[in-house]
Amino acid sequence: MANITPYLSRVTRQDRLRISHSRPVVFWMTGLSGSGKSTIASAFESLCVGAGHAAFMLDGDTVRTGLCAGLGFSPEDRAENLRRIAETAKIVASSGQIVVVCAISPDQQSRDRAREIITPAADFFEVYVSTPVEECARRDPKGLYKKAYAGEIPAFTGVSAPYEVPEKPDIVLDTVSDSVDACVKILFDAAMDCAYRPVFLLNEMAKAAAMAATAILEIYNGQYEVSFKDDTSPLTTADTASNKVITEHFRTVFPEYDILTEEEDDGDRDTHGIPKRLNGCGTFIIDPLDGTKEFINRNGEFCVSIGFADHHRVMAGVVAVPARGLLYYAYEGRGAYKTTITADMAEKGIASLFDPAEQIHVSDRVNGLRITASRSHGDKQTEALLEINKDRIGDVLTAGSCLKGCLIAEGEADIHYRWGAFMKEWDTAGMEILCKEAGASFTDMNGAPLCANRADPVNRNGFRILNRPEAALDTDDIK
Ligand code: ADX
Repeated sequence: MANITPYLSRVTRQDRLRISHSRPVVFWMTGLSGSGKSTIASAFESLCVGAGHAAFMLDGDTVRTGLCAGLGFSPEDRAENLRRIAETAKIVASSGQIVVVCAISPDQQSRDRAREIITPAADFFEVYVSTPVEECARRDPKGLYKKAYAGEIPAFTGVSAPYEVPEKPDIVLDTVSDSVDACVKILFDAAMDCAYRPVFLLNEMAKAAAMAATAILEIYNGQYEVSFKDDTSPLTTADTASNKVITEHFRTVFPEYDILTEEEDDGDRDTHGIPKRLNGCGTFIIDPLDGTKEFINRNGEFCVSIGFADHHRVMAGVVAVPARGLLYYAYEGRGAYKTTITADMAEKGIASLFDPAEQIHVSDRVNGLRITASRSHGDKQTEALLEINKDRIGDVLTAGSCLKGCLIAEGEADIHYRWGAFMKEWDTAGMEILCKEAGASFTDMNGAPLCANRADPVNRNGFRILNRPEAALDTDDIK
């Protein structure tokens, strides 16, 4: 275009993601008038915003009162209507939003053009709301079918003007067999996949854990030095080496996310002077070597623990057990899994990520319980717990680090209680999502949910893991 120079913003997509918690995506809903597009889109928009993700609905009827006022229903006017909607959707999505368009968009050519306009800037889903014309006419929410059949509305789509069924829609919503909520859930799941890319995320977390496991084992099998941190806990060169490979990997692959790690100062501040990660769009919570004491004692019970949290809850986690060559992992809503660390995992990630054959579940024991106790930290509350509840306890398993959580997640153990303000978020984040996705509850000592990615990472009120609510022990007299 002559004499026009588009101006490039200096705000990046990643900057916008931090504010909006959404990557650019457009759900383009096509279907007959009365098919349910707006009802589904509006519920979807509310659900996204309620969950903390910027979302915006662009409705055909609504834009025809402003942006597209004056356009009618001839094929040319419809094409221009849809072109304007597509350009607008592109701008709104580029601002870091989930956009949901509702427009009959009766022809494949217009929908293809919308995809062409939008895809350089955003992901695009053609969503076909497949309600048949007879059902739309039966519902007739605006009374338009009645008028159209009476010949009062010329060129009415589905009655006196054509509707081309999408050739290859990305998503089909069937409002006859599925409820509004079910249709909304399909869109929401797709939107969350765009926001977090769970397969990519988990694979990168697995790669980081596998690299860390190699770095740790090299040192474990050789010579290493131990120093003592300010809080007198031991630090080996393995802690530092593991932290380095994990954080370098995440800083390269996910510059948009923040990092909270046991081995680094929580120093990154925002323009208001508070930790940047508190208002970010995702934080990795890392213990590069959980169980340094077990490492030094050479009992193999040390782990690499990585959680990923957004909106102050842990959504994804991996726990590697280097000495056993095992990797446990979980993603919110997708289950918990256990696999072996393969030679190419650091490069390729996990071969079949959500393989039902590798899924793990908590046990269903509620009596003769197998309780895990810390290998390195004995305490008087745990002693009292074991004494008061001895009739219900079948076995006490000692295990180091967050291996305890792994044992519960896979049903080898059932419950764990940990009093006091000793554990930090990085000790618990990975195993928290692992246990929850395997079916356990993971709360503080009062049964309250743990808030993740806090300013103060100390779990002040301890934590407890229960395979089943009925497995809860009597803790009334334990202080
Ligand atoms: S499109 O064909 O250009 O995509 P759009 O979705 O913007 O249509 O507008 C459709 C809405 O306009 C319908 O939901 C209905 O309320 C109203 N409408 C008025 N006249 C017609 C018509 N002839 N055909 C279809 N919808 C119409």
